[in-house]
Amino acid sequence: MSIVLNKKEFHQEPYEFYKEIRPHDAFAKVKLVSGIQDSWVAFTYEAAEAVLKDERFVKNPRAVFPDVSEHELMPITHSMLFADPPDHRRLRSLVQRGFTPKMIQRLQGRIEEIAKIQVEQMKGKETVDLIADYAFPIPIIVICELLGVPPEDRLDFQRWSNSMVEINDDPSFYEQVEAHMKEFQLYIEQLLAEKRIHPQDDLLSELIRAEEDGDKLSVQELYGAIMLMIVAGHETTVNLIANGMLALFTHPEQLKKLKESPSLIDGAIEEILRFNGPVEFSTDRYAKESFTFMGKQLQKGDHVLVSLASADHDPAVFSEPDKLVITREKSPHLAFGKGIHYCLGAPLARLEGKIAIQTLLNTFPEIQINTALANLEWRQSFVIRGLKEPAGEIELMFEKHVPSLKAQVF
Ligand code: HEM
Repeated sequence: MSIVLNKKEFHQEPYEFYKEIRPHDAFAKVKLVSGIQDSWVAFTYEAAEAVLKDERFVKNPRAVFPDVSEHELMPITHSMLFADPPDHRRLRSLVQRGFTPKMIQRLQGRIEEIAKIQVEQMKGKETVDLIADYAFPIPIIVICELLGVPPEDRLDFQRWSNSMVEINDDPSFYEQVEAHMKEFQLYIEQLLAEKRIHPQDDLLSELIRAEEDGDKLSVQELYGAIMLMIVAGHETTVNLIANGMLALFTHPEQLKKLKESPSLIDGAIEEILRFNGPVEFSTDRYAKESFTFMGKQLQKGDHVLVSLASADHDPAVFSEPDKLVITREKSPHLAFGKGIHYCLGAPLARLEGKIAIQTLLNTFPEIQINTALANLEWRQSFVIRGLKEPAGEIELMFEKHVPSLKAQVF
């Protein structure tokens, strides 16, 4: 198929494209970015689930491209997300302890506190930028505290994380990504040097201890783990909150229902994840060998992605998939993936999303969107589904006039 997906029009209306392609091609070869080799993409729920559970699709590029140089790979490819068993199990178990539902429940009070501080700062303002003023700071402060990295550096993290998940046809973009990766690595180097001398009661110090123990974690894997946690913590829950509020604003009857019955919040979060989840595509997978899958012949090394967003709008599984229905009975959505790479941060993301949206609606029950929907621009990324916002340098906000998710608070 010669469709180049990475066009602004695609990111503005991906669900229309999915609706057309799904009935004809459950699993299709698509050009994601011009100039880059075609990729296989799973579009139906059945194909998506099958890819995520099939061990013939591997995550570690070194497993299929033994000659690839380390220089060509990002340091994050040493993390669990790009590892296969048995390394995957070892890497995941080192971090897992900090993310069990019980551990996350303990963070509830602190997340509520952070959300309250943010709404206090919004009081008295007529208009707020929901992403910059609210959706972004909450998950970022939480993940920084959990890891033990300074939340004040969050704009740098945001810049570096954006570089890893966005994609652009412009050749200078890759130079910028490389420069950002160098800055990110240097930052981690300094952070680690400091933590090794002054360890604390945080995840980073625990990972350093595992690395210093010798056989549990290599230094490259330590870098990979830190980068993964920072990127996962910066790029996902912010969009759960923002996409969620947007979905509620565009379905006023559902918003009304939620305000009248706050106990519907858990179902609302699941439905928001399904309806317009923050992770549109899975991360990279490769065919470990040549084989036939869903009637298509794959060659060893073929690049494979799963459109989680398309799978979660498949009418074969979800009735009226293009409607937000916060009272859906059952939602086996794939927003957090499936199989061994199922999102480690899911309990944290759910709790943060729930507290953030509840606190906002409780404090500003009359909140309304005051940006025309046509003005909203979606980010050009194959991983993240999120609105563009005046990221990074605040002083550029007014110069750039980037449309953002603005809301009227009362
Ligand atoms: C609403 C927010 C989030 C969504 C929708 C989400 C979604 C996902 C998805 C789809 C995957 C699997 C990717 C694949 O198989 O290719 C994943 C993996 C992962 N996520 Fe999340 N995520 C969210 C928040 C978080 C947070 C807050 C963290 C914690 C810092 C986190 C940490 C991870 C990690 C460590 C993995 C890799 C797991 C593994 O490889 O075993 N995520 N996430």
